[in-house]
Amino acid sequence: MTKQQQNNISIVRIHDIEQYEGQEVTLQGWLYNQRSSGKLQFVQIRDGSGFIQCIFKQSQVSPQVWSMLQELVQESAICVHGHVRKDPRAPFCGFELLGSQLQHVGGTRDYPITKKEHGHAFLLDHRHLWIRSRRQHAILRIRATAVRAIRDTLDKAGFLLVDSPILTANACEGTSTLFSTSWFDDRPAYLSQSGQLYQEACAMAFGKTYCFGPTFRAEKSKTRRHLNEFWMVEPEAAYMDLAGVIELATEFLSAVVQQIVQQHERELVQVLGRDLDILHRVSRPFVRLTYDEALAKLAQLRDKESDPQLKQQLQITWGMDFGSPHETALCHFFDRPIVVTHFPAQVKAFYMKKHPDDERLSCSFDILAPDGYGEIIGGGQREENIDLLLQSIKQHNLSEKQLQWYTDLRRYGSITHSGFGLGLERLLAFVCGLAHLREAIAFPRTLERLTP
Ligand code: 4AD
Ligand code: MG
Repeated sequence: MTKQQQNNISIVRIHDIEQYEGQEVTLQGWLYNQRSSGKLQFVQIRDGSGFIQCIFKQSQVSPQVWSMLQELVQESAICVHGHVRKDPRAPFCGFELLGSQLQHVGGTRDYPITKKEHGHAFLLDHRHLWIRSRRQHAILRIRATAVRAIRDTLDKAGFLLVDSPILTANACEGTSTLFSTSWFDDRPAYLSQSGQLYQEACAMAFGKTYCFGPTFRAEKSKTRRHLNEFWMVEPEAAYMDLAGVIELATEFLSAVVQQIVQQHERELVQVLGRDLDILHRVSRPFVRLTYDEALAKLAQLRDKESDPQLKQQLQITWGMDFGSPHETALCHFFDRPIVVTHFPAQVKAFYMKKHPDDERLSCSFDILAPDGYGEIIGGGQREENIDLLLQSIKQHNLSEKQLQWYTDLRRYGSITHSGFGLGLERLLAFVCGLAHLREAIAFPRTLERLTP
């Protein structure tokens, strides 16, 4: 408890309001919305922890308070004092405040985000203010829960959190998407595309580890599924093969999604309008397809497609990676998550193990989220054979010298091991039903946007 709270124990947060039913409390916040009806003023307040309606009756407040109420505007900083009462019809939280005192703490003029519809570019320019809205509030709170659920689930499964570095000397996921900067003596340094290679070292040290932090991709793509800075959780496990890691990812994704749904049912339904049935279906069994089977399914879907443009977009030949239209079509067809396995080795990164019986294929998998959301997890079994790994490093034109430390992991007690990466914003876009990843992070970084 802060000193201020000790001096004035009635200052509470809206999130905890139900503990104060029937009591007098003070809220510190901002005006969210206001309407009047003759001798009543309905003031909706947000304090960062939630939203609540406060009713002021002219007959029960001083003339000063009543006239102050007329001066308030959206985002005026206010403290209100009043009586907490339960009313299932009350907006937001089923409680409301019968106001008695009001303090106008900080003024506001011409708040740019009004109740009318604004375009996305305008809202993104005002992202520092947009995050005050109820919808953004819900999404960012769900994000915090997702982070907690991810950590809890992995911690409980015996994974140790070991942070990977962000500044690195080598590429992990292909050299075309590296953000570079310069190290002190003008050597190049790169922002990490993935913490995986370091997790492989950590897994050899601790058995099961994960990192969870920001990752960077200099992709010049403008799709709704790409950010240039995003958060990824990457578990890695020693003595685990492809089948094992698919099992791990299935359990993990189900547990995380169900934990979020349990804690945020109200926001998901009332604020974001999400269909919970879609989320409840994130539980085993997931649909399983090999890359070849997925290609056959896509051919069927293409044949049935009547729109010539969509038909064209669904065109794919063996050896190509899936694009958004392919993933979207597959995950509209099935109503559960889809695990696609054994992609062609040529579309996957250098570290991916080749299929023992068919070296055109890799021991890889992606998990596609239902409802058209597409890939949210990518992973696989790592090449543990030093000679094959060195060969792959060469084929990918990567520097053997820069990766010396990584290839050492195959020189000293090399074993079967596997892992995966889950993109936090992709998970949130799916869970919250967002049209674009940019709402899933407080300050998105995209091709056109480095501010605010
Ligand atoms: O499939 P990716 O590129 O795999 C890796 O980075 C591996 N090193 C992971 C591992 O095995 N440890 O990325 C993994 C996930 C994707 O499935 C997606 O959810 C997310 O990271 N992701 C992105 N999210 C937002 N914007 C982007 N540009 C993303 N690129 C990947
Ligand atoms: Mg991928």
